[in-house]
Amino acid sequence: ALDISKLRAQTGAITLDIGFVNTGSCTSKITFLDGEKGILRYRGYPIEQLAESSNFAEVSYLLYNGELPTAAQLEAFNKDIAASSKLPGGVEKIIDQFPGSAHPMGVLAAAISSLSGFYPEFLNPEATEEIKNKAITQMMGQVKVMMAQFYRKTMGKSPLASNAKLDYSSDFLNLMFDGEVDKDVADALDTLLILHADHEQNCSASTVRVVGSSHANVFASIAAGVTALWGQLHGGANQAVLEMLEEIRKDGGDYQKFIEKAKDKEDPFRLMGFGHRVYKNFDPRAKIIKKACDTILEKLDIQDPLLDIAKGLEEVALKDEYFVKRNLYPNVDFYSGIIYKALGIPTNMFTAMFVLGRLPGWLSQWKELREDGARISRPRQVYMGETERDYTPVIKR
Ligand code: ACO
Repeated sequence: ALDISKLRAQTGAITLDIGFVNTGSCTSKITFLDGEKGILRYRGYPIEQLAESSNFAEVSYLLYNGELPTAAQLEAFNKDIAASSKLPGGVEKIIDQFPGSAHPMGVLAAAISSLSGFYPEFLNPEATEEIKNKAITQMMGQVKVMMAQFYRKTMGKSPLASNAKLDYSSDFLNLMFDGEVDKDVADALDTLLILHADHEQNCSASTVRVVGSSHANVFASIAAGVTALWGQLHGGANQAVLEMLEEIRKDGGDYQKFIEKAKDKEDPFRLMGFGHRVYKNFDPRAKIIKKACDTILEKLDIQDPLLDIAKGLEEVALKDEYFVKRNLYPNVDFYSGIIYKALGIPTNMFTAMFVLGRLPGWLSQWKELREDGARISRPRQVYMGETERDYTPVIKR
């Protein structure tokens, strides 16, 4: 086994690994990922089995606590989520102060960060058992309420309260759209949330760990994860994919033209939803999402031309030497937006939907970090600037 104390004692030469391509930053027991073989497991359970047979609350419990819950544990977990979902009035006001045109990711980051002002007990750097137990249920409850409140504000509607009788995804849809929730729609959302729940040391999870390693509180750590996820190269890709597909459709649907654009090194355009740092085979989540996409669109009797464009792009890209040579396959974001669109979620909220799914993963990473007593994250650099030189007063410059 790896002897961390020996590793800690080592100092000396600095490895330079820009973008952390080959650098492990921690040990973890949460998620296993084999990018060569396209394998993803949460706590040892294959993602395919969890997506097929589990539900999001159960998967969240599993990620956070390490084992699947008993029926009683799951019931208590769901009850705690519902019981702590109400937002403090001050947080509701903060959300309400944003203009309706604000991006939901900025609103979420601010609202999550603001929770630290309303729950001072969470600022205890010792992160007691009680806080650790409360962090996941409270945040899973409150983040979905925040998202729905902001969406309803943009629609000129007042916020609704969480309904403890509904499962996690049905409650979210009810909070958003108010009314009978279609079971197929809730199931499709639940599958998406399971697929997004954790993905080891990606940009946002690593950010949560870096911030948490300074013993910043859990709300600050998670808010940092939200902002890291926002960018187009990470979670922001799901919004960018839909906008790209829309652009291709408006342009007449000639996807070959966009494939050529993505290959052109003079052109900054990239095929959004394609490529992954770790998956050099296929992304197992993308396979499940593509199938779920077909199923839900058929059930809802939706013919979305964007799905045909996405499938066409994938077919052409997978045969193209440029993409083959670089192992570029569709990732989790390539088809997810088409499902969100079918569920009635506005495009600028897609990345916030990713937050909803990834929240238990980030929290599990934060908890593991604190329980492992991890050292503060503090990477080194290779200095490339000026050597020593003497200061000259401004009149002499
Ligand atoms: N379209 C066109 N070319 C691409 C793409 C793409 N989507 N992705 C990578 N490439 C090319 C690069 O230009 C580079 O080519 P080169 O070797 O000729 O210079 C090569 O493939 C390797 O790409 P890097 O950018 O070095 O790969 P990296 O591992 O750093 O980046 C990333 C991975 C960010 C996911 C990248 O593939 C990308 O930008 N994809 C599009 C955005 C996206 O879908 N992001 C979501 C990722 S999944 C997630 O975070 C939830």
